[in-house]
Amino acid sequence: MADTLTITDNRTGKTYQVPIESGSIKAMDLRQIKAGADDFGLMTYDPAFQNTAACRSKITYIDGDKGILLYRGYPIDQLAEDSTFLETAYLILFGELPKAGELDEWTRKITMHTMLHENIKKFMEGFQYDAHPMGIFLSTVGALSTIYPDAKKIHDEDVRRLQILRLIAKVPSIAAYAYRHSIGRPYIYPDNDLSFTGNFLNMLFKMTELKYRPHPVLERALDILFILHADHEQNCSTSAMRGIGSSQADPYSALAGAAAALYGPLHGGANEAVLRMLQEIGSVRNVPAFIQKVKGGDGRLMGFGHRVYKSYDPRAKIIKKTADQVFSITGRNPLLDIALELERIALEDDYFVSRKLYPNVDFYSGLIYQAMGFPVDMFAVLFAMARTSGWLAQWDEMLRDPDQKIARPRQLYIGAARRDYTPMSAR
Ligand code: ACO
Repeated sequence: MADTLTITDNRTGKTYQVPIESGSIKAMDLRQIKAGADDFGLMTYDPAFQNTAACRSKITYIDGDKGILLYRGYPIDQLAEDSTFLETAYLILFGELPKAGELDEWTRKITMHTMLHENIKKFMEGFQYDAHPMGIFLSTVGALSTIYPDAKKIHDEDVRRLQILRLIAKVPSIAAYAYRHSIGRPYIYPDNDLSFTGNFLNMLFKMTELKYRPHPVLERALDILFILHADHEQNCSTSAMRGIGSSQADPYSALAGAAAALYGPLHGGANEAVLRMLQEIGSVRNVPAFIQKVKGGDGRLMGFGHRVYKSYDPRAKIIKKTADQVFSITGRNPLLDIALELERIALEDDYFVSRKLYPNVDFYSGLIYQAMGFPVDMFAVLFAMARTSGWLAQWDEMLRDPDQKIARPRQLYIGAARRDYTPMSAR
């Protein structure tokens, strides 16, 4: 029969027809497969969701074998070449490229919302002088939910839209304040004359000059990096955003959770881990020994490998090009030679080739950030800032989706069977 899967249960001899739609079967269709009346029904066991689609989405398309990444159908290389981060964020959130008037209005509204409540500044002052900026970032985003209790009305489209504007506008201010706090410099208020990314650089790096003027090449390079990080479908942090949002928590709380998921070294913390790895390797001549160590199971080659991409990450290609433009202004990052040698050896080595391990977006991004003057512990914060647009788009899509309910996976219980409590004297 067309578009169905026939399953024969050898325990009972029964056969079942399960419809196939969009290359998948519904896990709930397996529940009908029971060995007896009190059998719960068949479940799937899929730790780390390696083969489970948890939603239908119109936002981002990835073909991991061919190295294709599309936002709302537009190829990432075209957006990186021709779009801006704010325009791309609009596209991701609302599904279409904005017309001129729409982009102006969107930019104006974002610019209007960049200020942080003074209490939030005070809140941030409470962190230790050497607190990791990502810890400050995710805590402060969560704290915003106490400033905007109206955000709890998540079923009201206008309320959702307002929180989307607030969050996209305020995350650069939070990120910049976290950085300034960690180096003991005064906070810089937003400058509405500058672009989204230009203003971010202003809030980070302005000193005593009356007006901060970002270098146009560095401003554009950072904007491109933000475009590349804006969304990446159902990755770990986006799944956290959807999972937390599915309990109908407000978007600040959900986004704090998503940022926490991004913090880990296997996800958005990888660019920081790459830099620390390159520093530890220290010189091109130590690269072969390091590769041997990784192949022996001692550590991973950070910035390599991806759950979905089994070919060159298309974002890594664009980043390599952007790196050249940045280094022509800032001077070459001396760690680049180590990174290039690691990539050269890894792409020829059977261990990496047979496992289809290629550089991912984070292999080169840290080198650019470092050359631009960002400290290593700011890297994940930059990622979180850009990904905020994707998290919000995915959250909004989830709330509109009639198929979605509170996210609640099942488990296979493998613990002790029922037993009676043993008094302390008898243990
Ligand atoms: N270095 C060395 N070996 C690796 C690496 C790596 N970076 N990544 C995967 N492998 C090996 C594994 O040891 C495993 O080998 P085995 O089959 O012999 O056991 C095989 O490749 C498959 O790896 P898994 O861990 O099963 O792949 P998974 O899809 O679960 O992990 C991940 C993907 C987490 C990205 C992994 O490749 C990794 O740890 N990479 C380094 C961290 C990193 O760069 N993360 C950023 C990802 S991009 C992003 O989030 C923005």
